[in-house]
Amino acid sequence: MSVNIYVNSPNVKYTDKHIVAQYAYQTTSVKREGNKVMVTPHTTEMTFCTERHVPRLGVMLVGWGGNNGTTVTAAVLANKLGLTWMTKTGEKEANYFGSFLQASTVCLGSSFEGEVNVPFRDILPMVHPNDIVFDGWDVSAMDLGSAMERAQVLDWSLQEQLRPHMSGMKPRPSIYIPEFIAANQESRADNVLTGTLAEQVEQIRADIRDFHQSSGVDKVIVLWTANTERFCDIIPGVNDSAKNLLATIQAGAAVSPSTLFAVASILEGCAFINGSPQNTFVPGAIELAEQRGVFIGGDDFKSGQTKIKSVLVDFLVSAGIKPTSIVSYNHLGNNDGKNLSAPQQFRSKEISKSNVVDDMVQSNPILYQPGEKPDHCVVIKYVPYVGDSKRAMDEYTSEIMMGGISTIALHNTCEDSLLASPIILDLVILTELCQRVTVRPQGEEDFQSFHSVLALLSFLCKAPLVPSGTPVVNAFFRQRTSIENIMRACLGLPPQNHMLLEHKLQ
Ligand code: NAI
Repeated sequence: MSVNIYVNSPNVKYTDKHIVAQYAYQTTSVKREGNKVMVTPHTTEMTFCTERHVPRLGVMLVGWGGNNGTTVTAAVLANKLGLTWMTKTGEKEANYFGSFLQASTVCLGSSFEGEVNVPFRDILPMVHPNDIVFDGWDVSAMDLGSAMERAQVLDWSLQEQLRPHMSGMKPRPSIYIPEFIAANQESRADNVLTGTLAEQVEQIRADIRDFHQSSGVDKVIVLWTANTERFCDIIPGVNDSAKNLLATIQAGAAVSPSTLFAVASILEGCAFINGSPQNTFVPGAIELAEQRGVFIGGDDFKSGQTKIKSVLVDFLVSAGIKPTSIVSYNHLGNNDGKNLSAPQQFRSKEISKSNVVDDMVQSNPILYQPGEKPDHCVVIKYVPYVGDSKRAMDEYTSEIMMGGISTIALHNTCEDSLLASPIILDLVILTELCQRVTVRPQGEEDFQSFHSVLALLSFLCKAPLVPSGTPVVNAFFRQRTSIENIMRACLGLPPQNHMLLEHKLQ
């Protein structure tokens, strides 16, 4: 079910190439003196311009042969080929459930029959996942057909249908620096680049150009879905500025593989997204992206436990209930879990998972004193038998009225890669769309792009990367509404306000 949306308004113009919309952006500024709070509404007139031509998108995955890399590639192929397969519970068909763009809807307004909900993907012209062309790198040379079998994610009868299409796909050799990922990964690293760091970055750049040319795609986005690395120290003179980072690469000193991939992508003008928790975006990488006007986004796919946390804590705190302790256990048995069983890699994940409730807690000074936070503990254990079906068990304890205690306990079987794969698709499709949107505030001559640090991707990330000095929003529905309302602005439509006044007056 796809729809064609046309906005009937003098403020919206459709040309062959663009949708141009006049938009009144309404904000409030607040001044606080003691108990007195002065609120002033403002309106800024803006013009949103969206390119209508949807390019052919190529996506290069770092870690292509891993569970996520093989699953997302397989899922797109299965959808494209319209595959069905038998399981013990009956016939299944390929779909994109879990992708908010492909499988969730937005309420556009009401007609005589009631509310009209349309697929999110139809609001603006966007790449369809079936049309994405994949390529990528992996330190393991295994072809994608065999790697899909190694991942143990998809039903066997589906794998049998996909294998002929995937066994010809071979990951390109990658940058492998053993000290950044767990030692237990060494046995699969048989597809690695050699040479100086600078030469390896040059090779990655050449790979991007080669893929771009040989596949016939119009643009390329690079996404890291390789193993979680340890955190990097931010060292003045080494990685604190773009100039220093590039000099450090030339000198061959310690830079993580994910940062090297980010640098190579940025230098090729390709957006780079980090799906893992480590601090790939050291200040030098961020500055380089800003200098080159290239989008970067991350960090760490928000797929299961953290997604629930960003809904549940928002619900509790918004309901006036005070979460005081959040304890999260995970056990998983895939290769990600094996890598995370090493202390330094676990630490990256722990940091990424732990800040997710901060904005919600800080928003409510009735419940929390300045600096007060709930106790928050995250445990991850490697249990090979459960494979990709990660178990996440959470206990939320909250204070309720008059000294009462409310406890919520959750058990979630995650099927990790089947949750992460649609998020990968949403990340690249949303990034590509943002590359076609520009905005001109009233009184300015030029149209501007979004900031290089693409905060709109926060909805899909556990530890959202935002431009320095700007607020981090983790709350799930605030993040989603932000995307929805920015897309509505591109069509000159007012933000979704859920007031339904037309039904509330006499
Ligand atoms: P995986 O271990 O199955 O796949 C990672 C792949 O990366 C492996 O094939 C490995 O050989 C490769 N690799 C490692 N270092 C590399 C390098 N320097 N260059 C190229 N390839 C390299 O892991 P999985 O399950 O696919 O997860 C990938 C990443 O996504 C992990 O960091 C994980 O923490 C992160 N993630 C996964 C989520 C999920 O729900 N599946 C959620 C959030 C984050």
